[in-house]
Amino acid sequence: MKEFNLGIIGLGNVGSGVVRILNERRFMLAQKIGSSIQIKRICDINLKRKHNVHVSEKIFTKNAYDIINDPQIDIVVELIGGIHPAYEYIFEALKKGKNVVTANKALLAEYGQQLFTHALDCNKNIYFEASVGAGIPIIKSLREGLVANKFHSVFGIVNGTSNFVLSCMSESHCSFNEALHLAKERGFAEKDPTLDIEGVDSAHKLILLTYLAFGRFVNMKDVWREGISSLSLADIRYAQELNLAIKLLAVAKRKTDSLEVRVHPALINNRHPLAAVNGVNNAIYVCSDLAGDLLFSGPGAGQSSAASAVVSDIVDVIQDLKAGMFRPTLNTLVDSSIKRLRNPDEFESRYYIRFTALDKPGVLAKISSILARYNISIASVTQKERHKAKSVPIVMVIHEAKERHLRQALVEIDKLPVIKEKSVAIRIEEL
Ligand code: HSE
Repeated sequence: MKEFNLGIIGLGNVGSGVVRILNERRFMLAQKIGSSIQIKRICDINLKRKHNVHVSEKIFTKNAYDIINDPQIDIVVELIGGIHPAYEYIFEALKKGKNVVTANKALLAEYGQQLFTHALDCNKNIYFEASVGAGIPIIKSLREGLVANKFHSVFGIVNGTSNFVLSCMSESHCSFNEALHLAKERGFAEKDPTLDIEGVDSAHKLILLTYLAFGRFVNMKDVWREGISSLSLADIRYAQELNLAIKLLAVAKRKTDSLEVRVHPALINNRHPLAAVNGVNNAIYVCSDLAGDLLFSGPGAGQSSAASAVVSDIVDVIQDLKAGMFRPTLNTLVDSSIKRLRNPDEFESRYYIRFTALDKPGVLAKISSILARYNISIASVTQKERHKAKSVPIVMVIHEAKERHLRQALVEIDKLPVIKEKSVAIRIEEL
């Protein structure tokens, strides 16, 4: 039986999960693929960090180049995350004739174009299934299973940590900080969890999904991005009373000849399947012309789920090597019907708005006259409390309005003496 040698760079949460699967399922995998997978070397800056996985001391190194320069290693698995030195390691590994498996969505979103071009020049591949949705096989599905399709939209929940936080807040009414602490304890969050909660991790994943679906590498600066850190429990509860659930959505949607690419908190109808995606789960909706609307869902973060995707990539590399095949993993055709990215000013949506205003006659008239000037139509209004001396929350839902118009109207409304706090506006996404 032919043996393939791996070098793993990074023995953290996901890396140790990969080692555990390869140890525990060695025979099962060998039977399935007809080859054996040998972990030849593991690199980590902390040699004591072995995460209870069984590996011989002899294969450990602190120097990634012991793996990159080893001619017997066929596949380099990069699991250190971050941009540097991950970029340099992958670049050099490709140059040395290795195929690379990585879960590094930040690196691929920022430097994917350079790295994939370099991989092509080297006649090698970068495999990245674990970079989006962890164990959910969304990359393979877009690239292979749906290869004959054109896409209208790809959207969903792609960050487990923020979904976990929002679910805790919605279900248990716990605070944002308590929920985030729990997510960190369970090992879902990034090293820097602001990447999760400010929508950066979702934007990285959305860039990869957008490329696979529409053949466009969107720059990070072109993704409209808002995080969840400023959401309040009060708004989540008021929205629940309107049968709306809060989610951090990542959306790539075609509008005739343009494409909208955005990450932001959104309220969705409680009956929509995405509303039932809670905890660390991710769910990606793919609207395609031939296969129709498809929903991919499952745990989107966590050790075994991410490691499952990494092992699937390792097996893919081996199958390609054995068949003597070269299948670039980023073979997407540019969708020429898309001429431009939409400017955020053009986005249109229904909105939930909360004003904090004095409870006295004429307040609503003042608010609605400003909204009317911006052509914004009100769908419903509820005052949540009664308090003559103090300010009260007024919750309003508006019909579809242009983002730019709403922002301008809110600036004017917030200047009214009867308004006591900055107004809150959350998109209501029609899915
Ligand atoms: N930190 C990510 C998440 C997991 O919470 O979804 C890895 O992509």
